[in-house]
Amino acid sequence: MDYINMTYEEALSHAPKEEPARQYYFIERYKEVLDQLKASSGKEQFTFHIATFGCQMNSRDSEKLQGILEAIGFVGTDTEEADFVLYNTCTVRENANDRVYGRLGYLNSLKKKNPHMMIALCGCMMQEEKVVAKIKQSYRFVDIIFGTHNIFKLAELMYERLEEKKMVVDIWEGTDRIVEDLPTDRKYSFKSGVNIMFGCNNFCSYCIVPYVRGRERSRSPKDILEEVKQLVADGVVEIMLLGQNVNSYGKNLETPVSFAELLTQIDQVEGLERIRFMTSHPKDLSDELIEAMKHSKKVCKHLHLPLQSGSSRILKVMNRKYTREQYLELVEKIRAAIPDISLTTDIIVGFPGETEEDFNETLDVVKKVRFDSAFTFIYSKRTGTPAAKMEEVPEEAVKNRFDRLLTEVQKISSEVCGRDEHTVQKVLVEEVNDHEKGLLTGHMSNNTTVHFKGDSSLIGKIVDVYLDESRGFYYMGTLRP
Ligand code: 5AD
Ligand code: SF4
Repeated sequence: MDYINMTYEEALSHAPKEEPARQYYFIERYKEVLDQLKASSGKEQFTFHIATFGCQMNSRDSEKLQGILEAIGFVGTDTEEADFVLYNTCTVRENANDRVYGRLGYLNSLKKKNPHMMIALCGCMMQEEKVVAKIKQSYRFVDIIFGTHNIFKLAELMYERLEEKKMVVDIWEGTDRIVEDLPTDRKYSFKSGVNIMFGCNNFCSYCIVPYVRGRERSRSPKDILEEVKQLVADGVVEIMLLGQNVNSYGKNLETPVSFAELLTQIDQVEGLERIRFMTSHPKDLSDELIEAMKHSKKVCKHLHLPLQSGSSRILKVMNRKYTREQYLELVEKIRAAIPDISLTTDIIVGFPGETEEDFNETLDVVKKVRFDSAFTFIYSKRTGTPAAKMEEVPEEAVKNRFDRLLTEVQKISSEVCGRDEHTVQKVLVEEVNDHEKGLLTGHMSNNTTVHFKGDSSLIGKIVDVYLDESRGFYYMGTLRP
């Protein structure tokens, strides 16, 4: 093609073997391509759009993908009428997959209008063989498919696609590699996710994550600390440490380090104000971690502790490795150490074999713990997981239980969330409220949302706010000088 100076084969023969040098090389090659495309098409800029589905891990991955696209010279845009559209997909529940298929048809219509448009799909859903087979067969207009283990390769895959007549598909089954130091762009200037580990070894019987994200791999404390220091130097005040189960951080490092030790080290980074983390599995949340949280001024007063079910019988079939009693004891221990902590959770309704009795046990735990908030999910069958072979609960029973759970969860959370009414709290100002002019929105240490009047120059700062009124899930407050 006339806009490539170098064929893919030539580029390959010159490309460094090591990472990240190899990717920086392909970024440079693609920059040249963009320059030529701009000259020949008369278009001043080439745009990209990333749509991210799913969890914080995916959001962080998208920031890395965005960093690469910007390094090449693409300019971000809010619409899918872009020259490079990338869907970073999720597959934790079936409806996430349906949403992607639903939107692909629309992308095809856009591609017909824009000869330069490229469509790429990546993320968890692409790690499923049947998904890739379906896209290859029925969505042939897709240009590139890659998975969760090789997002760092985006520039190389894009370059390869320039010559390939057909879809470029690069899915790795697993990896033990972690590629550091690629360009990243952050959605917020003042807060950032930081991956501390990748993958999951827990194999909860309903969950597809271990199959699509592979085995646990921890980053070294040195790499993590360097990234945190760099982020702080760059203006970040709040970080969210990310891992499928942060409690098993560091177990497989050459010199094992516990999550509590890592947290204590990060706590000492000067200039950093807040530390959050996600997610913590109840089976191995250590006393050491509770102590580390208790003694830190920076670790936020919030713990997300997925319950999944309140029935010990169901928890066993789920392979969660704790009982309802152990969960309740853990909650008590945490609250005894950190009384003002906010607890949130995930609950699945309608797991195979769940009886009315099992469900009532879940409701009972919800009433006992009184979570600040709970994400409630209807069980979704994921092919390849052990639970997929188990008999499902009839749909009406599941819907009925889901509604009852949601009502209870919302009632409790509106009562619990108001407990700081009429006090002054520290709030990280995050954005201008899109619904009401003049209002800012931020979060307290315990993650509750606060809206208050103020100027957008406060964004990224931690300010004192008096909480005038609790409105169930959020507060209306007044800025204190
Ligand atoms: N069906 C419903 N919910 C699920 N989750 C994980 N797998 C499934 C599934 N197959 C929920 C769990 C987990 C959250 C991220 O998603 O509650 O904690
Ligand atoms: Fe899935 Fe369980 Fe791993 Fe969480 S801990 S990602 S629910 S397998």
